[in-house]
Amino acid sequence: MKRAVKAIYPGSFDPITNGHIYIAERAASIFDEVRVSVLVNSQKRSTFSVDERCSMAREALSYLPNVTVGHFQGLLVDYLRCEESRVIIRGLRAMSDFEYEFQMALMNRQLAPEIETFFIVTDPQYSYISSSVIRDIFQFGGSVHDVVPPGVFRRLRERFPPQTPQTPQRNPAGEQRKTEGGAP
Ligand code: PNS
Repeated sequence: MKRAVKAIYPGSFDPITNGHIYIAERAASIFDEVRVSVLVNSQKRSTFSVDERCSMAREALSYLPNVTVGHFQGLLVDYLRCEESRVIIRGLRAMSDFEYEFQMALMNRQLAPEIETFFIVTDPQYSYISSSVIRDIFQFGGSVHDVVPPGVFRRLRERFPPQTPQTPQRNPAGEQRKTEGGAP
């Protein structure tokens, strides 16, 4: 009998974005089971706790019956072995992602040769989205509806309540240099 293939989609998911959801959805159409796995990293300060990140991901992905959400700490390959999975899913948005992802895939192969990394290319509409850009936008009073699921949007609003947008500060020194240089 054919064994079900379980894939692990690891990440910080701080918070999950529509770009992540797109990758999870495509992975779910290929693999029997996809486990979105949130990294618990005590050395890196995150905006949302692991529980919050998991619950946002769970809510956003509840429409996909073969996608589950969990968390892990330590080495990814050790986690895969515990989960009895040999497949890592990573999304690629641009060439600039590739170098880091390539290095990580080779490192993981070195650590665990039986594990394979599969890359899924994003949809162009998500190519500029990242959790950090979204956090920055909210932190400084901006707002974006169509790049995160509604539950994440709500939590970002709670975490970063809207304020009066700040007037962009001009840099007098920069202005002066511009005039001196005669640039248009
Ligand atoms: O969403 P991110 O932050 O790009 O995800 C990075 C992640 C979680 C996949 C990566 O940092 C990771 O696997 N961390 C666990 C520690 C580990 O196994 N490191 C060795 C891989 S190079």
